[in-house]
Amino acid sequence: MSEAKPRAAGPVTPHVVLAVTGGIAAYKAVEVMRGLQHAGCDVRVTMTADAARFVGAPTFEALSGHPVADDLYAYPESPIPHVFLADWADLVLVVPATANALAKMAAGIGDDCLSTTLLAAHRPPLVAAAMNVHMWRNPATQANVATLRRRGVPFVMPQTGLLACGDVGEGKLAEVSDIVAAALDALSPVDQDMAATRLVVTSGPTHEAIDPVRYIANASTGKMGHAIAREAARRGAAVTLVSGPVSLPAPRGVDVVRVVSSAEMRAATLAAFERADAAVCAAAVADYTPASPARHKLKKGADDLATLRLVETADILAELSRAKGDRVVVGFAAETDSLLENARAKLERKGCDLIVANDVSRADSTFGADTSRVAFVWPDRTEQLGTLPLGQVATAICDRVAALVTAGEGA
Ligand code: CTP
Repeated sequence: MSEAKPRAAGPVTPHVVLAVTGGIAAYKAVEVMRGLQHAGCDVRVTMTADAARFVGAPTFEALSGHPVADDLYAYPESPIPHVFLADWADLVLVVPATANALAKMAAGIGDDCLSTTLLAAHRPPLVAAAMNVHMWRNPATQANVATLRRRGVPFVMPQTGLLACGDVGEGKLAEVSDIVAAALDALSPVDQDMAATRLVVTSGPTHEAIDPVRYIANASTGKMGHAIAREAARRGAAVTLVSGPVSLPAPRGVDVVRVVSSAEMRAATLAAFERADAAVCAAAVADYTPASPARHKLKKGADDLATLRLVETADILAELSRAKGDRVVVGFAAETDSLLENARAKLERKGCDLIVANDVSRADSTFGADTSRVAFVWPDRTEQLGTLPLGQVATAICDRVAALVTAGEGA
């Protein structure tokens, strides 16, 4: 009989048991496994018979390098697979968790390899639920979620969006990168190095009204700004996230101020900065706004829609930099060419402490991507990072913000 072995001395490889239940989002569990592996985790998979109808065990076997535990009575690693997996795991992660899986967890049912592994786990599993909106909203499901939460089960909550069944609503599996980040959070106790920092983060696009139904916008999704806010909060910072219109959930532990226009973003950001030690301006603020937005919907022919008079918006980053004193202000430069030259010019023009430059002409670093390839442009040097998942870019940015805040306190 093979047993879960004690760890060898040396760098510890986190062990994750990925529990896959039978929903259409099961295919995303493969990407979650890859993300965890890229972050250095060793992953074993247990799955239900229904999950195997969506993704075959050979896929997980080939990619994980371990047999899949899908049968309590036939697992080559151990005759008691659920106990073996529970002992081996630093974290059990359920992706996706169906309504049925949640109900079984809440009721304590163990009738297959996956559900018995969840029962035998040494700490509450991390659960990424996904299902049809009506199944999610069903009072029975909501009661099960509430029961599990009371027992200390953490959730990566489903998002609102277009579901596989064609319905639009809550129930969509959270972003793969968010699930991976939540799992990595759960695996590592976090150093509270930003506990004394009050941070303002701007995120997302702004919408500049042309009339009540039309606006000027841009391609920002807010993923970067939200990731920075989430990471800073995880490290203990008191974070105010001033967010333009995005479809992302509020990061845990973050105070979110939702705005629409650049004028609203400016007012909210300046107000929050009065009580802050640092600001990170990750928003893609519109540079121009219609000079006089119409109060009624403009009509083709009757109204002049062919020409739009625009006026420049206030530069929030430059204003914060002028007001900052000893405080820290970090800006972004999203460029398509002459990245470092343009970023350096921006650093000087705006007067901030640091510019995070990214080349948005690259597919791995553009708006909406789950990775980014950034360079830090300082007054006296440049630091280029490789292409990294947004969570790791957020970590790198927070490392530099924390160092700047500490240096400012010492100055
Ligand atoms: N920014 C801001 N307020 C604005 C415009 C930009 O705070 N009205 C901030 C952004 O949040 C970002 C930085 O300034 O941190 C750079 O934004 P970017 O759009 O790249 O620079 P611009 O100054 O608008 O220059 P350009 O668009 O000509 O490159």
